[in-house]
Amino acid sequence: MFSDSLKLLFTVAPFAAVTATTIADIQGTRFTSSYAGKNVTGVTGVITAKGNSGFYLSGEPSDDIRVSNGLYVYGSTSAVVGDNISLGGKVSNYRSSSYPSYMYLVELTSPSNITIISSGNEVTPVVLGEDRSPPTQYLSALDTGSDGWLSVPNNVSQVSVRNPELEPAKYGMDFWKSLDAQLVVIPHPVALNFDNSYGEFWVRGDWEVTGLNGRGGLTLTFGEDGIPDANPEAIIVGSPLDGTKNPEVAVGTGISNITGIISYQFGFYTVLPLTAPTVVSTPDPTVPATTLRVSTDNACSLTLGDYNVENLAPDSDHLGSIADHIANHLLSPDFMFVQEIQDNSGPTDDGTVSANITLATLSAAIADAGGVTYNFTEISPEDGKDGGQPGGNIRVAYLYNPEKLTLAPGKAGLATEAVNVTADANGLPTLSLNPGRIAPDSSAWVSSRKPLAAEWITASGDKLFTINVHFSSKGGSTSNHGDLRPPVNSPVAQRTTQVKAVAALVQSILDIDPKANIIVSGDFNEYTQTRSVLASLNAIMTEIDEAAGIDEVERYTYVYDQNTQQLDHIFISPGLAARGVEAEHIHVNNWAPSYDDRISDHDPTVGKVLVC
Ligand SMILES: *[C@@H]1O[C@H](CO)[C@@H](O)[C@H](O)[C@H]1NC(C)=O
Ligand SMILES: *[C@@H]1O[C@H](CO)[C@@H](O)[C@H](O)[C@H]1NC(C)=O
Ligand SMILES: *[C@@H]1O[C@H](CO)[C@@H](O)[C@H](O)[C@H]1NC(C)=O
Ligand SMILES: *[C@@H]1O[C@H](CO)[C@@H](O)[C@H](O)[C@H]1NC(C)=O
Ligand SMILES: *[C@@H]1O[C@H](CO)[C@@H](O)[C@H](O)[C@H]1NC(C)=O
Ligand SMILES: *[C@@H]1O[C@H](CO)[C@@H](O)[C@H](O)[C@H]1NC(C)=O
Ligand SMILES: *[C@@H]1O[C@H](CO)[C@@H](O)[C@H](O)[C@H]1NC(C)=O
Ligand SMILES: *[C@@H]1O[C@H](CO)[C@@H](O)[C@H](O)[C@H]1NC(C)=O
Repeated sequence: MFSDSLKLLFTVAPFAAVTATTIADIQGTRFTSSYAGKNVTGVTGVITAKGNSGFYLSGEPSDDIRVSNGLYVYGSTSAVVGDNISLGGKVSNYRSSSYPSYMYLVELTSPSNITIISSGNEVTPVVLGEDRSPPTQYLSALDTGSDGWLSVPNNVSQVSVRNPELEPAKYGMDFWKSLDAQLVVIPHPVALNFDNSYGEFWVRGDWEVTGLNGRGGLTLTFGEDGIPDANPEAIIVGSPLDGTKNPEVAVGTGISNITGIISYQFGFYTVLPLTAPTVVSTPDPTVPATTLRVSTDNACSLTLGDYNVENLAPDSDHLGSIADHIANHLLSPDFMFVQEIQDNSGPTDDGTVSANITLATLSAAIADAGGVTYNFTEISPEDGKDGGQPGGNIRVAYLYNPEKLTLAPGKAGLATEAVNVTADANGLPTLSLNPGRIAPDSSAWVSSRKPLAAEWITASGDKLFTINVHFSSKGGSTSNHGDLRPPVNSPVAQRTTQVKAVAALVQSILDIDPKANIIVSGDFNEYTQTRSVLASLNAIMTEIDEAAGIDEVERYTYVYDQNTQQLDHIFISPGLAARGVEAEHIHVNNWAPSYDDRISDHDPTVGKVLVC
């Protein structure tokens, strides 16, 4: 009682140094330290590791699970690992940058009066999965809203402002903060993505996880309570403290035990290994071809493919590999939704907008690789108006097998002409332009790809409507371990409007024929779990994964940070859903043995539908 009030007296007095402060006192039960800006003396702890600009201390453990007994000291010392030292210094809540959304780290700066008390002390690391285990669903108590960390509006509050009491059993950020600067063991780590250009990669350890897929990654899913699961049980592995280099990894690579320090850097809670771990197991690099084939005796049966081919130009090095994927992994679907087709001059900014040479080159390469000879259709955008790599004029396009379907007769639209839906002589829906772009002058599409609608006549004589989309990318979004809660999902309002514009065209077809065959497919740059964005389309169509009953953890086409995730979606109309569908994601890229072996950042998808 007495010592508590005495401490309080000292901490509030700006002129006095606080004496005999413990690391636990400095860390406290929240994200930032109440001692920030104050000088402390008589802090004791054993040096657990040294880094380039500082060292880590382990003080007396606290009984309170929220309180870390680790502390980073910014400064140098001649004392060595294993030395129990006493020192003074100034407590600081530090972040290298407020952009993009970094959290504060508690540290001791200007260390002074460093005295060695004893040497050769061993610090027992916290074995994660044995002593402590991370929670598996939520990141932060501040992520309120029905979509959890994916809720809108974004950036409703900031951790640094609210500075909540830590709840490490429930929230991942709180869990990792409660271990700040402590020495831990991550047993049997498995990589969850590729190593980045700094040699960092995400892992899960030998503890309970949710969202585990067959490859070993963690998929973004819904939790049991229906709120999105952010996979907070994963952590990123930073550069080893001894200057050694992390190994090259891929999704599912097994790694040797990591002993390291928990820290926060570049927007994420991070483990800094004392020394680099090694690879102990490598997943099978074989990617089987799709099992979906067309029924040759049934003209109603069609296969479709969807593939973001990543900035494809006629002279792209990866064109042959893309063609091989389409011919030999997707097995030449009857029609393909492709995204990121560049104009005939690629990224050269020379006013070229047509992509007919890009598409003809791709089509020829697919035929050379043993696939079908595709015809194609596109509408060239206005120069420089649709975003993406400067000069590339990326757009969406269709490849189609002319023996299985042809474009319905009609006039092709121009870049600025809006397609609409009318009833034909038989009272069936028809597009005013074929193909045609959806509301190209709408503000929804500023610096973004306009969706391409097309009307087809199948070999069975049925009508099929398709809309190929590539919505605004997530560039400018903030870290899922960041200060802004929920994290900024950029540009979520624009993407929501884009989905609504597509849903409106679908609705105008359904208004005329509720049983119409309609497929909306492409790169949505959004997760199924961000329900607010996809709501307008979900209200009138079904995602093919759902209709086909694909296991939730196997629904992914992309890997980013700790999550395998689905950015690419195929939505089908009620008429198609009623007849039954099949679908498979073909992981030609996210199962690559290394980042450099990846051909595109997205995996393609194959589906099979019955149009009659
Ligand atoms: C903290 O210590 C530094 C360096 O010894 C000194 O310059 C500063 O005045 C002290 N601040 C307070 C609040 O005691
Ligand atoms: C380090 O020294 C302090 C102060 O004497 C002591 O309380 C603490 O138990 C020591 N730690 C270890 C691991 O010996
Ligand atoms: C330096 O540390 C020693 C040992 O903890 C302590 O006795 C002394 O008071 C400290 N001196 C200052 C100026 O803080
Ligand atoms: C987040 O919200 C804060 C407080 O309203 C504001 O200062 C900041 O600019 C916002 N940041 C972003 C990226 O929206
Ligand atoms: C990895 O860590 C676990 C948990 O501490 C331990 O049981 C196992 O023996 C360790 N493996 C190696 C190779 O050190
Ligand atoms: C591309 O379009 C131009 C202009 O319409 C035409 O002259 C050329 O033959 C086309 N090339 C291919 C490969 O389709
Ligand atoms: C291929 O597409 C072009 C341009 O749309 C069209 O003129 C041609 O008839 C199509 N070929 C076949 C076989 O459908
Ligand atoms: C639909 O498009 C056609 C052809 O562009 C145009 O003549 C017609 O006015 C449009 N109808 C509506 C309702 O916009």
